[in-house]
Amino acid sequence: MKKLMELLREEMVKAFAGAGYDEKYAQVNVSNRPDLCQYQCNGALAAAKAYHKAPMVIAEEVVPALLEGPYFEKAEAVRPGFINLTLRNEFLADYVNEMAETEKFGAVQTEEPRTIMIDYGGPNVAKPLHVGHLRSAVIGESVKRICRFVGHKVIGDVHLGDWGLQMGLIITELRKRQPDLPYFDPEFAGEYPEEAPFTIGELEEIYPYANAFSKEHPEYLAEAHQATYELQNGNRGYLALWQHIINVSVTDLKRNYRNLNVEFDLWKKESDAQKYIPDLVKYLKDEGYAYISEGALVVDVKEETDTKEIPPCMILKSDGATLYKTTDLATIVEREKLFDPDTYIYVVDKRQGLYFEQIFRCSKKCKLVPEETEMIFLGFGTMNGKDGKPFKTRDGGVMRLENLIAEIKGAVYDKIMENRQMDESEADEVARKVGVAALKYGDLSNQASKDYIFDTERFTSFDGNTGPYILYTIVRIKSILQKYREMGGDESAKVHAEVNPSELALLLQLGRFSEMVQTAYEEKAPHKVCQYVYELANAFNGFYHETRILNEEDTQKRAGYIALLKVVLGVLETCCDLLGIETPDRM
Ligand code: ARG
Repeated sequence: MKKLMELLREEMVKAFAGAGYDEKYAQVNVSNRPDLCQYQCNGALAAAKAYHKAPMVIAEEVVPALLEGPYFEKAEAVRPGFINLTLRNEFLADYVNEMAETEKFGAVQTEEPRTIMIDYGGPNVAKPLHVGHLRSAVIGESVKRICRFVGHKVIGDVHLGDWGLQMGLIITELRKRQPDLPYFDPEFAGEYPEEAPFTIGELEEIYPYANAFSKEHPEYLAEAHQATYELQNGNRGYLALWQHIINVSVTDLKRNYRNLNVEFDLWKKESDAQKYIPDLVKYLKDEGYAYISEGALVVDVKEETDTKEIPPCMILKSDGATLYKTTDLATIVEREKLFDPDTYIYVVDKRQGLYFEQIFRCSKKCKLVPEETEMIFLGFGTMNGKDGKPFKTRDGGVMRLENLIAEIKGAVYDKIMENRQMDESEADEVARKVGVAALKYGDLSNQASKDYIFDTERFTSFDGNTGPYILYTIVRIKSILQKYREMGGDESAKVHAEVNPSELALLLQLGRFSEMVQTAYEEKAPHKVCQYVYELANAFNGFYHETRILNEEDTQKRAGYIALLKVVLGVLETCCDLLGIETPDRM
């Protein structure tokens, strides 16, 4: 199914060509003066220069052909040379009816499916999941769904951070607390216990403690470095402990992500890439890409067109140690081998922008990926508190994601219970869905690269550009449809063409769905989905307040409304799905 805009453009192309003008001037846009017209074409203004004619003359030559076609009710040339367009209601209703019958409501599907590897989430094992990781998970999940929706093969990888000093710190602290564990006995040759010697609660307490302690005690830090080194070089007991840490942590992470409706296809870890490092280093040296600079092994990645300094990409430190970068390059080697992606998308804090620029350049220059591979850095801004500073708990600590969800869910729960009757367990489940929607929508409705202010009160409001408002609209439609069903009304009708103004606005907004999906995909921009779904919810509520739907006595007319409601509901739910937001039946 073609985009509405494409149909209009085709018609415009015919009209321009028919009047003897180049089709490149036949551009159609949504009107920025909806009070005057629905769509407009400004091409006559541009054509005027090329053809040395008055724009108004050109516009007037183009208009008659438009009026002859099936799409336009009105096509007017207005000074100084705009063409204002109003669609025929029949055409619009037909278009929406076709959407209703087409898979994915007619959203354009890609003709060249790509394999897209999306790296998001990026939590670190044993460190509590905090709000810094929230954005990556929420944005990445939506981008993944959008890419998949237009027909690409998308692989989402959590890329667990499991290979750093945090492991050495935990091992060191455990040895201090429980020195008799077999993991610390170099003589021990038997099987290690299957059960971890700690719970997730203990693990989460151990890391911050050890981290703080190491800052005050250099000898303890040195021990942690040594433990990290030994772990990375195959100490059997440490490897067994590390496996416990991962298992306990991953179980907890999965639970947290499930609460957020975030789901990864792959649970790969930084450690999985380590085995590719020796060959990678050898390759970079042999091919002459890497050289020694002040003892370290580096690859130059600056380019002539650079306006700012891009430092060389360091592969090995002067003591031979690998870095976060080495792991990322090795991960690319592994991804090429296992998945051969056409596109990479990294959803990471925008402060890592320069870092990824180096990684991308190094990958291309050293031919770790083919020249045509698309490498996208989707950097996001900071989530701030109301004071405009990075979000903290009341006592100034880092807010754990779980607590944040609990806070927002609590606020929603109170609202639900204020003026409704619902039993507690249902209210609890609804509050979870609506709370998570408030949180996610509050994040996704901002352009990802911008910082935003987290505001429980505003995010949980049932009015305005919020998740709960969208869900409330969905629930409202579901309830009307439910009542209609109970009345036994006709369900086979189509959307009608005799529409009132608010109904027309709703049809127009529906007609833009495919257009929006394409833009959201091209720009990897969930906020475009939010903007659209908000406008659609507004259009629906405008219609709802002006129209007697179930009380309409003309049963045919009523059935037409119901057909319209079904499309609106479907599109709203689809948008929520693209955002990774679950929708309740009641709230
Ligand atoms: N674990 C990292 C952090 O917490 C994020 C990982 C981002 N992805 C990557 N491939 N480096 O900052």
